[in-house]
Amino acid sequence: MTDRGSPAWLHNAVGYEVYLRSFADGNGDGLGDLIGLHGRLDYLAWLGVDLVWITPFFPSPMADQGYDVSDYLSIEPCFGDLGDFKRVLERAHSLGMRVAADIVPNHTSSEHPWFKAALDDPDSPYRDYYLWRDPGPGGGPPNNWISHFGGPAWTLDPRSGQYWCHLFLAEQPDLNWRNPAVRAEFEQILEFWFRQGADAIRIDVAHALVKDEQFRDNPQLGDPSGIANPRTRFRCFDHVYDLGRPETSDIYRGWRKIADRHDAALIGETYLLDADELAGLVTPDGLNVGLWFAPMSMQWDAETVRAVLEEPHRALGSQVGWVQSSHDESRPVSRFGGGALGRQRSLGLCLMLLGLPGTPFLYQGEELGLPDAQIPAGLRHDPIARLNEGATGRDVCRTPMPWDDGPHLGFSGAAATWLPQAYDIADTVAAQQADPDSHLHAVRALIELRSGFADLSDEAVFLDDLPAGIVGYRRGDLLFVLNAGDTVAGLETLGVSGHQVLHRTDGGLSAPDEAGSLGEPPTALTPGEALVADTGAH
Ligand code: GLC
Repeated sequence: MTDRGSPAWLHNAVGYEVYLRSFADGNGDGLGDLIGLHGRLDYLAWLGVDLVWITPFFPSPMADQGYDVSDYLSIEPCFGDLGDFKRVLERAHSLGMRVAADIVPNHTSSEHPWFKAALDDPDSPYRDYYLWRDPGPGGGPPNNWISHFGGPAWTLDPRSGQYWCHLFLAEQPDLNWRNPAVRAEFEQILEFWFRQGADAIRIDVAHALVKDEQFRDNPQLGDPSGIANPRTRFRCFDHVYDLGRPETSDIYRGWRKIADRHDAALIGETYLLDADELAGLVTPDGLNVGLWFAPMSMQWDAETVRAVLEEPHRALGSQVGWVQSSHDESRPVSRFGGGALGRQRSLGLCLMLLGLPGTPFLYQGEELGLPDAQIPAGLRHDPIARLNEGATGRDVCRTPMPWDDGPHLGFSGAAATWLPQAYDIADTVAAQQADPDSHLHAVRALIELRSGFADLSDEAVFLDDLPAGIVGYRRGDLLFVLNAGDTVAGLETLGVSGHQVLHRTDGGLSAPDEAGSLGEPPTALTPGEALVADTGAH
């Protein structure tokens, strides 16, 4: 058997992202928390999840909803305390699930004591924990780097006359990862959370920790003026000097030794859309998993879908983290055309992602087939929406989970919730659990199917001889095909005829019935639909 790397429990695991603020409110303040999550862990086990990633729960002024950490070694009171975290761990472990904490090493909050000391006293040793530069030659910011959230990536400290670097908000100053003291701090932070019992960490902005030593200007690719969305403006530059620096992978080689000692895994938020570049960062002795974000920004056409599946598989093998949604992006049902078509495509893609080696992650609500929420401008929290006129921001995918017919659809007993409940009773977990034809049951069936893939070859071979619009790969004896085109495709053209169809995403027509026999073999694949056939069986 091939060496599938450590830790063994990660092999074939299915992950699930819990956006803590909106998952379940246990203390009735309108905001999700650890005790609320604790009460819903049985649901995740029922769904078939192996690894629960919880978004940051550390003390934070919440300028970026917790991705601005002011203390890495304790828990934000509105989310609970260390005892609650232990309860989550114990319950998850007793249900056979692992838990990942979300560490934010690219930047701290400006309220972190390190940054306060750095600002108060330029001679303090903490000054060099951050990135400071003198103004550029004509005055103003030191270079052309811009923030993901809008405006320059630099803010002036009037007292010292120097600028600090921040790839996100000014309230999120970037750490200086060339400083060994910063590395030592985070090694202790990792040790701390692994000792508390965390099984993995998700590493925020994992591709950006080390910046160019000379802080050179990024080459400009387009004109950002007039573009409302700051993340689109960000793409007007080739980020060779602020993101994806090869030196960053060295940090993870050190972290990997710590993780291995605890049988834990490192999951990087590696937002690099070039698979070869990603492979430079996700090495066999570094990050265990590099999340691959291209499915979240791709166009829906067969050529693109194939490339988005094949390229990372070729470059990273079983170290790819597959995601089609997250707390940062428009939901896939809406991106892929909305309504029934959007749901069908999202489900078809889900089958294709779950069929590949690597670690697939679902984002809360994806299993329910939820579309984006409509949030009136005055109720938006995301700094992207607050700081950029005309930008919708990320609240559309961050609204409370719809659970049942309780208050705020079972999310919270509070009078008001931090973002409004945006869905209907028919969308809820309870309603979908009661309906065997629901999206939820379809996703659960796919996860169950995947549990049978543990011994399959780690290589997927993409097929060239399929009709236009069809994407397919073979993994061992199994053949996975997706109709990524706009027309119905007859199965006789797909190499499926005569083989046992194990599953298809149209509601499981060919799933075995109670007597174990398969229904009528399908004759066609509708747009967005996918299936898996066993070519070893006749
Ligand atoms: C990551 C997080 C995102 C956050 C950003 C800055 O991309 O997923 O929510 O705003 O990092 O920490």
